[in-house]
Amino acid sequence: VQAKSIRVALLQWYDKIHELRGMPWRKVYNPEFGPAERAQRAYEVWISEIMLQQTQVATVIPYYNKWMAKFPTIRDLAASDIETVNSLWKGLGYYSRAARLLSGAQKVVKEFKGRLPDNAKDMEAEIPGIGRYSAGAICSIAYNQCVPVLDGNVHRLLSRVLALYTPPKDKKTLDILWAGAGTMVEGADRPGDINQAMIELGSTVCKVRDPACDACPIRPRCRGYVLSRGVDAEQVWCT
Ligand code: ADE
Repeated sequence: VQAKSIRVALLQWYDKIHELRGMPWRKVYNPEFGPAERAQRAYEVWISEIMLQQTQVATVIPYYNKWMAKFPTIRDLAASDIETVNSLWKGLGYYSRAARLLSGAQKVVKEFKGRLPDNAKDMEAEIPGIGRYSAGAICSIAYNQCVPVLDGNVHRLLSRVLALYTPPKDKKTLDILWAGAGTMVEGADRPGDINQAMIELGSTVCKVRDPACDACPIRPRCRGYVLSRGVDAEQVWCT
């Protein structure tokens, strides 16, 4: 599989559709930002990614806007309390996510001078609630670093592109998929957009049921699609 040609097709598709969806946490990466502005972007992306973990984009947008009006910076969040945080979270569910945002912000203010770590390794190691996925999303989107993401959407997308047959949760499978996701962003100019394009393609086109292969920009490079022509998709695709 040719990562470079997939990237080009993905970004062309992403550039056409992503503005239509009006996600307030998406901003063009600005290489001239200093450490404080980068940390602010990391805060914004962190909040959005945690909200998006179990919740759809359209639902998250108003919650994100309300959150940012109340807690424009990580220091505002850290100075708040669990009751206020929970009231802003009301309706999103999985309240432990909100509690971890609060304790994470308090740790960042206390131990890291109010700035999220500037790399994925430290972020994952130091901040409660930030795992490998979130660290990759934040660092690729906010810092333009070439770190991969693998959520359910990217897992399904890459399983199909690579036509994997191995059980989806096996360590072997996950290792292959993390490596594949890494290849996609390795040396890329716009790693954050590549990651977001894969997440979005996975959630809107390469769906669990009835994937819209006709609308897929990387269909010609998808091993699952090519192998399954004339074959029942379920015989080939890992879900
Ligand atoms: N779901 C999780 N992260 C996302 C992002 N950055 N854009 C769109 N959907 C997402």
